[in-house]
Amino acid sequence: MSSADESGQQAFKRTLVTAALPYANGDIHLGHLAGAYLPADLYVRYLRLRGEEVLFICGSDEYGVPITLTAEKLGISPQELVDRNYESIRKSFADFGMSFDNYSQTSREIHTETSQAFFTDLHTQGLFKQKTTDQFYSVSQNRFLADRYIEGTCPKCGSEDARGDQCEKCGTTLDPTELINPRNAMDNSPLELRKTTHWFLPLGDWQEKLKAFHGRHPEWKENVLRYCNGWFADGLQDRAMTRDLSWGVPVPLPDHEGKVMFVWFDAPIGYISATREWAAENGAPETWRTWWQNPDTRLVHFIGKDNIFFHALLFPIMLMAHSENYILPDNVPANEFLNLEGQKLSTSRGFAVWLPEYLAKFPADALRYTLARNLPETRDMNFTWQGFLARNNSELGNNFGNLINRVLTFCHKYFAGVVPEWSLDAATDLDRTTLAEVEDLLQRWSEHMARFEQKAAVNVAFQAGQAGNRYFDESAPFRTRKSDLARCGQSVGVAIQIVRMLALMLAPVTPFAMTKLWGWLGMESDLWPGGWQEGTLPIPSGRILGQPEILFPRIEDQAVQIEIERLEKLLDNA
Ligand code: 2FM
Ligand code: ZN
Repeated sequence: MSSADESGQQAFKRTLVTAALPYANGDIHLGHLAGAYLPADLYVRYLRLRGEEVLFICGSDEYGVPITLTAEKLGISPQELVDRNYESIRKSFADFGMSFDNYSQTSREIHTETSQAFFTDLHTQGLFKQKTTDQFYSVSQNRFLADRYIEGTCPKCGSEDARGDQCEKCGTTLDPTELINPRNAMDNSPLELRKTTHWFLPLGDWQEKLKAFHGRHPEWKENVLRYCNGWFADGLQDRAMTRDLSWGVPVPLPDHEGKVMFVWFDAPIGYISATREWAAENGAPETWRTWWQNPDTRLVHFIGKDNIFFHALLFPIMLMAHSENYILPDNVPANEFLNLEGQKLSTSRGFAVWLPEYLAKFPADALRYTLARNLPETRDMNFTWQGFLARNNSELGNNFGNLINRVLTFCHKYFAGVVPEWSLDAATDLDRTTLAEVEDLLQRWSEHMARFEQKAAVNVAFQAGQAGNRYFDESAPFRTRKSDLARCGQSVGVAIQIVRMLALMLAPVTPFAMTKLWGWLGMESDLWPGGWQEGTLPIPSGRILGQPEILFPRIEDQAVQIEIERLEKLLDNA
């Protein structure tokens, strides 16, 4: 099974899922989670639930100028900075329930080796163009500067603090050499133009092949295809794949001290390095090739919309260009952005909700659920703390938690925690129609999940919860208990089946709670991998159930008021 099968396309044997490697320059916030990480984890957990073979790869993206600058500010080495941040990100991802098979780092030796070998392969085939250009050099800092660290007067509108890549005032895209009186944005010192040589990948040479590849994927999300078509219409250009910096993967050519790879060249190769690291740690180093070079493998990149260029255009070109046969992404489900309390997130102003801080106060499942309900799948979405409170208390608590708790508690109270006698033969019309309705919702849930329609899938799960509550009210075992104990037992038996199907539908979204519920339902298999098989079979009479606890604790209004006030203060001070 895979979505590919269901839509009649190529059948795959396994799926390699990647989530964008986050920069190790600070903590993860809600925007990151809604953009790439939660969707990736929902998908992976879904595939594992269905018993599919999946590998889930991620890691920290540890090069790039911002990391050097933060390290300088803190007076520590870039390596110390990224190691610290790596630990903190790794831990908060784990506490949030991200189920990576490997979470690596791009500053590790295996990544240096992998990306250098990749670069050498392209270089040996003569695929890079070497070009010498003029670039701004800061004498005071003894280095070439990236475009956005150069400021000067805009040649169009005269604004005095236009950046080397763009003038914020009039919106013009700029080349730093167009700026009047260019200066170093960090210390305002003057700059000189110096000659430097770099290796460019002529992306235009690959445009037709890439377009044909996209043409074979009409099922990709519209936002992704539209964005790529914009690039095709303008025509892809040569792009420098090297930089003059000290922090990065060294260019593996003789006499090229001080040159490193462009961070967007090495970062996606990080997915391959992390797979190699995982394979080596599992004692079968060569098996990484099964995941990257076997056409039976399906590759899916989860990203935020700001990464589309690199995953739908640049990295596929790199993979096509390599002399070995790499597979290409089968899908690149990119999400739009998440706003916070109606405003754009701003990490520089601290206007964000940081994952470690969230997790210190609230449960992971509550956030996973709220974000899953609100994923920016096709347009930007908004997170509000009041919305979070409502989702937790009225949906997780009153819809799902209430049903699960009612059914299991009732069974413990009146049937000693043993699934009562129930059967399809003894089913009333209400039993039959409700079971059929929830079974149908479960199938629809699965189809939505396979097609990356995660919000629709959670909505279907919600409807199943409502159907369960309605069933419990209407079949009224709390009444028949006195008048007709057999009927009462039948209703409880049916309600337990609804709870079982709900456990499947909620498992990827609220894995902590559903792992507990799976245990209380006395299931023999693990939820991951393969829970679907047992979860789609009836739970028989006579099964002993575990004692339930509250799965989704209420969150008090006061707790979210504190968060709202913190954000309001930031806005007032802006
Ligand atoms: O946007 C980002 O956070 C990048 N660090 C994503 C890199 S994805 C991949 F190419 F590694
Ligand atoms: Zn301007």
